[in-house]
Amino acid sequence: MKILITGGAGYIGSHVAKQLLETTDYQITILDNLSTGSIKTIKTLQTIKTFDFIELDLKEFDKVKEILEKNRFDVIIHFAAFSIVSESMQNPFKYYFNNTVNTTNLIKCAVKADVKKFIFSSTAAVYGDVQQNSNIREDFPTNPINPYGMSKLMSEKILQDTTKISKNFKYIIFRYFNVAGADMFYKNDLLIPRIGERHEPETHLIPLVVKTALKKREVLNIYGDDFDTFDGSCIRDYIHVEDLANAHIEAITYLDKNESDIFNLGYAKGYSVKEIVNSIKNITNCDFKTQIIERRGGDPAFLVSDNGKILDKMKWKPKFNNLELICKSAYEWEKNI
Ligand code: UFG
Repeated sequence: MKILITGGAGYIGSHVAKQLLETTDYQITILDNLSTGSIKTIKTLQTIKTFDFIELDLKEFDKVKEILEKNRFDVIIHFAAFSIVSESMQNPFKYYFNNTVNTTNLIKCAVKADVKKFIFSSTAAVYGDVQQNSNIREDFPTNPINPYGMSKLMSEKILQDTTKISKNFKYIIFRYFNVAGADMFYKNDLLIPRIGERHEPETHLIPLVVKTALKKREVLNIYGDDFDTFDGSCIRDYIHVEDLANAHIEAITYLDKNESDIFNLGYAKGYSVKEIVNSIKNITNCDFKTQIIERRGGDPAFLVSDNGKILDKMKWKPKFNNLELICKSAYEWEKNI
């Protein structure tokens, strides 16, 4: 089986690539423009098993078409995208071009090249503000409150329309909640992640908290504590990147016998920003400064999944549903970079 992973040099794509390289004999090609992904990650993955790496931006439509026609992939797992909510508020065009326009072209080329399975990384940001503070099911209304979420929702719609005109084409859309943690690689009983989260600039909560614990930053800003939640800070559903990655591998075989579908990927349990900060203080035994500052644009108060659908329909079994493990692996990764 031939699999193309776009964005495989990035945080989530590299964990999926790693699991595929370690646990299957599928033939892997990674395509990445290295704008946010890292060549170091590609080199680390090459030490596990060799694979093809193509450095290319998806905006190169002719080249994308040529690569798909030539390689005849069975599956595309599409991660390549921008994913920072706050940046999308400042620069929506950047998001609509890369996340929606380039994805539209990729899907069009995939259909032409007779790709049968397309696994798409979408986001919980498609739901927007869920007023009732209840766990979000896949059939909840989608009302993104930022261009990032809208750029992904539009791609979801394009995938759905594609199946109406192309009977051989199936998709799985995964709506990620907050992905965190790193490679659970142990050497001599020590957790030493080989790959992990590496964003420049970093905007995500858990990596910023561990950087502050490690004194790489002076203070952790908490964006608002006047939300309608139990302690005033935002609540998110943090899922370990290894569990999230594993669902993509399940999705490949799932599509052999099942139809296209949308699944949330989360643990159905929420933690507030303040709880995350305290948990990392406890795990690392490091104290550090925090300060409450004004809210960040585009942040919903509460984003927690209902994950009943994936647990019911797929063979996916989360193994790292444990906040301490998520934070510990993020911390161990950050210590070594
Ligand atoms: N936060 C802080 N201080 C920081 C960074 C973040 O208080 O320094 C808060 C944010 O305001 C938010 C929470 O921590 O309430 C989580 O923020 P992240 O930036 O880590 O993640 P987001 O929830 O904004 O977004 C992430 C992904 C999106 C995805 C979303 C789904 O980046 O792609 O989760 O829940 F859509």
